Amino acid sequence: TTIRATVCATLGLALAGLALPSLAAQTITVGHTTADTSHYSAGVDAFKERLEELSEGEFTVQEHAAGALGGERAMIEGLQIGTIDAVITSTGPLGNFVPETYVLDLPFLFTDYDNARCVLDGEIGQDLLDMMGNHDLVGLAWTENGFRHMTNSKRDVSAPEDAQGLKIRTMENKMHMAAFEELGVHPTPMAFPEVFTALQQGTVDGQENPISVILTSNLWEVQDYLSLTGHVYSPAIMLASPILWEGLSEEQQGWFLEAAQAGAAATREMVSRLETEGVEELREKGMTVVDDIDKSQFQAAVEPSYTVYTDEYGSEWLDRIRSSE
Ligand code: PAF
Repeated sequence: TTIRATVCATLGLALAGLALPSLAAQTITVGHTTADTSHYSAGVDAFKERLEELSEGEFTVQEHAAGALGGERAMIEGLQIGTIDAVITSTGPLGNFVPETYVLDLPFLFTDYDNARCVLDGEIGQDLLDMMGNHDLVGLAWTENGFRHMTNSKRDVSAPEDAQGLKIRTMENKMHMAAFEELGVHPTPMAFPEVFTALQQGTVDGQENPISVILTSNLWEVQDYLSLTGHVYSPAIMLASPILWEGLSEEQQGWFLEAAQAGAAATREMVSRLETEGVEELREKGMTVVDDIDKSQFQAAVEPSYTVYTDEYGSEWLDRIRSSE
């Protein structure tokens, strides 16, 4: 009896152990720094829906928006040590981890959304996603932040000389800083969660971001002038922690990759919509919008920043991107 009881108890425990995973869904934490009404949030919603559907409830997704898990640089570090499962981040701070991505942040590199999306969805984008693996990161999909435009609280900026002397918050990205230095502004790198207060208190005069960010992070409350400079395309990427990734089966990894694509599509759709509708909304909210920008003047002014890139990293990636156009 004793032996039979022990066998039964062991079998019972083993069966209970087997049954557990399907009973309790694994929660995947996804962090990002923009508002829960933003393009990134639209991406997380679509990712969540698709992952939960594909995995039939094996995974559930919990969104942490608005920098609740820290700025983008801090969240990328969180992925490397496994305290966060997945992140949607701009490439702003990513070059500090994966220098090959710096090329994407060169000003006026991409001509329009189709051009940028085509490069990122093609071989170059895939090669860069694969590079994440060399730096304790997993690249799930290229998604999007959008073309960046300048805002400030001082004056209309319609030509490069109007920007001279302004103190502008930039991302923690040395290519962006080099370009702004060429424009004669004072670039002040700062993590995004600190930006609203810095603008409100006048620590900086301005910042630059895509329309979705200016609108949904309420930057219009503390900035009067918007110039549609579109001076750089800002890619975003969905990254996963290698610690999460290594614990997944091949089938589960496939679900994550497919869900990330769904997230990217939803994000891009919102970015495209707000590129026009959002500008109107910002006008209605009281911003003065300068839309007759001669971009070629800005492009000429920041051109020397390309040598800052090529001197350090050569021109291989740049040539590949240019020859793919
Ligand atoms: O300005 C930035 O840091 C980024 O564009 C943001 C708003 C965090 C989105 O990636």
